[in-house]
Amino acid sequence: MSSPQTNSGVHTRFVALKMCLNVIEHGRSLSQVLPEGLAQFEDRRERAFVQNLVLGTLRWQFRLMAIRDLLLKKKLKAKDEDVNQLILIGLFQLLYSETANHAAVSETVNVSAKLKKPWAKGLVNGLLRNFMREQESICAAVDLKPAQKYAHPQWFFKAMREAYPDNWQSVLEANNQIAPLTLRNNALQQTRAQLLDILTRAEVAASAHPHCSQGIVLTQSCDISQLPTYHEGGFSVQDAAAQQAAFLLQPRAGERILDACAAPGGKTSHLLESAQGDLDLLALEKEPERLDRLAENLHRLNLQCDYRVGDAGQPQAWWDGRQFDKILLDAPCSATGIIRRHPDIKWHRIPEDIDELVEIQQHILDALWPTLKPGGQMLYATCSVLPQENSEQMRAFLARTADAKLLPLNVTWGWPGSQIGRQILPGQDGMDGFYYCLLHKQNS
Ligand SMILES: C[S@@+](CC[C@H](N)C(=O)[O-])C[C@H]1O[C@@H](n2cnc3c(N)ncnc32)[C@H](O)[C@@H]1O
Repeated sequence: MSSPQTNSGVHTRFVALKMCLNVIEHGRSLSQVLPEGLAQFEDRRERAFVQNLVLGTLRWQFRLMAIRDLLLKKKLKAKDEDVNQLILIGLFQLLYSETANHAAVSETVNVSAKLKKPWAKGLVNGLLRNFMREQESICAAVDLKPAQKYAHPQWFFKAMREAYPDNWQSVLEANNQIAPLTLRNNALQQTRAQLLDILTRAEVAASAHPHCSQGIVLTQSCDISQLPTYHEGGFSVQDAAAQQAAFLLQPRAGERILDACAAPGGKTSHLLESAQGDLDLLALEKEPERLDRLAENLHRLNLQCDYRVGDAGQPQAWWDGRQFDKILLDAPCSATGIIRRHPDIKWHRIPEDIDELVEIQQHILDALWPTLKPGGQMLYATCSVLPQENSEQMRAFLARTADAKLLPLNVTWGWPGSQIGRQILPGQDGMDGFYYCLLHKQNS
């Protein structure tokens, strides 16, 4: 993406810098920071430029940091994180953007004037120019270490190499790609072929996803609220991997179903659409604000179900004692399968989080199991690629739960790996990283 032609070159980069600082220094999530920052720009081209700069700098942060370390004589102090991020933004442009090198350097150096640190200008200028001169040898040295080459934290690189000895490179590479925009046709309103036709007439390039009956992949990203039928509920935005949940759980008319961790309702609405809305479905969510988003989504799609705030790990607080035919447990997880959509996860997630998440998942599994009818099914799902949260979590659950039985998944997608459930690796058939395991409760 080339730099805007207007005199906004410094402003766009300054806003991008503040957004990166919000994520890295203040620990905020990119999904909060990005819309706030982009709202400052009316021009579509400027918005796209800033988005690319922020996402790219965060995506490549671990490689850019290693490059910076080879170029800096003295480490920057913690209070100079602004200068640090500006350097990384400059390096990102030189390595990965279409902006001409001279423009990338001069505009980035000009941003340093806004930092009120007179020494920064010379440092940023010198460092970026040195990089241009020595790019080849510096990159070669940095790329000797795979975690640096693929721009991931060391612990995560090791975890991937251990879990996927033959696939870890493709997982890490996929995490650095820009994710496709995938829609789910609302089958209650039209067929997928009809929606494809509507999109084609609106000159939106799109194609059917091979692994989901309602999935449509858009060739270019766009403002979905401007697409035909959006406001009438004609479709939802949902990755093809997430669209497998309703397919695997196969809701039937009249069934009593619990969607245990439901917001913002992507899978809730898919379950309802799959059963023509005729389900006794309870959508449970711990966070009240997130439940509001679920309610908004159901409203736009013209769907109804029972929904409430509640902790899936504390059924005594919300369960009326009537067992469910089916349960979808889309568990809170590390989200390491969707790094390509949320590159800040590389930064925010630390190994200690994983142990904590595994415990939470285990607790919710054990708490919900008694609420499932004998003969019923539970679909366990995560958007994680870590075996501890997925196959190992399921292996342990099956070992301690006498009436739980593993059901085979007769699907053509994903990676069978451990034979317990199915792991979709990021980028496989264009999908997000996801894990599914279907459990059956035996009659005692
Ligand atoms: C992976 S997201 C769910 C995505 C959702 N199923 C969808 O398809 O749109 C996990 C959700 O679980 C919620 N959550 C986390 N812990 C929970 C708990 N103990 N009980 C209920 N909801 C919980 C989170 O707030 C988050 O909204």
